[in-house]
Amino acid sequence: MKELFSVTGKVIVITGGSGVLGGAIGEHLIQQGAKIVVIGYREESVIAKLKDLARFGSDPLGLAVDCTKEDQLVTARKKIMDRWGRIDVLINGAGGNLPGATIAPTQTIFDCKLDDIQSVIDLNLMGSVVPSLIFGKVMAEQKQGSIINISSMAADRAITRVFGYSLAKAAIDQLTKWMAMEMAHKFGDGIRVNAIAPGFFIGNQNRRLLTEEDGSYTERGKTIINNTPMSRFGDITELNGIVQYLSSDASKFVTGTIIPIDGGFSAFSGV
Ligand SMILES: NC(=O)c1ccc[n+]([C@@H]2O[C@H](COP(=O)([O-])OP(=O)(O)OC[C@H]3O[C@@H](n4cnc5c(N)ncnc54)[C@H](O)[C@@H]3O)[C@@H](O)[C@H]2O)c1
Repeated sequence: MKELFSVTGKVIVITGGSGVLGGAIGEHLIQQGAKIVVIGYREESVIAKLKDLARFGSDPLGLAVDCTKEDQLVTARKKIMDRWGRIDVLINGAGGNLPGATIAPTQTIFDCKLDDIQSVIDLNLMGSVVPSLIFGKVMAEQKQGSIINISSMAADRAITRVFGYSLAKAAIDQLTKWMAMEMAHKFGDGIRVNAIAPGFFIGNQNRRLLTEEDGSYTERGKTIINNTPMSRFGDITELNGIVQYLSSDASKFVTGTIIPIDGGFSAFSGV
């Protein structure tokens, strides 16, 4: 059983590895014996994350890369291959939002800024498409690998305010299904592509939407809790199990799925 879920020795690339979710997942996987590559946008945050991970006595690789840029990812791929010679898992954890792609309570959809919507789609969609193609090529050559995308509750239902982000996350679900099909058809059953759809976890990008400065819930925070059968927000460590499962041989016949980790939010009708 221990081997079934093992990630020991696997080379796992985490984009957004310096962020809240990606950072926590990296911490878990490194403790399970994986070789971690932390990819983040800003060099300072990548360095800070490497320093933080040093306490686990491992030696992760850190790269400051814009995940929407093909040339930077090709350079990153070379560095990873020079260091470890393979890529077993890619976790597409880079993402974010911009004010002009969201709709404040006093605004309408016509107040959105088209440039901001485009940037949010570029980051959240192309920021997963481009790494999947650049790092997925190594998996195609190895005929082995697992790609884990990060979807959202906003992917298949309309959640107020987060307009641009929802468009991008809906497309992430289709990227997941489409790439799962394509990789299996053309490169065999050793390559899997899945997504996790976290429910509501408090991170940098949504903290002010869900909590007031004093830590109490906003009206939106309360609405979410009321629609979550488990009546709480998620703890980011609660993503570790599913990520380890999808990274390991335990999920060998699982591809093209989008798995909610949401305390029941997506199952509940609200009534
Ligand atoms: N926090 C939640 O509740 C929640 C829920 C559902 C989905 N998600 C998704 O999980 C992912 C991570 O969210 P988070 O809360 O950890 O956010 P975060 O802001 O803490 O981290 C975002 C990470 O993305 C990186 N990044 C941003 N732009 C980049 C670029 N152009 N190139 C490379 N890296 C870039 C940042 O460096 C950072 O490491 C996002 O896709 C987010 O949409 C989060």
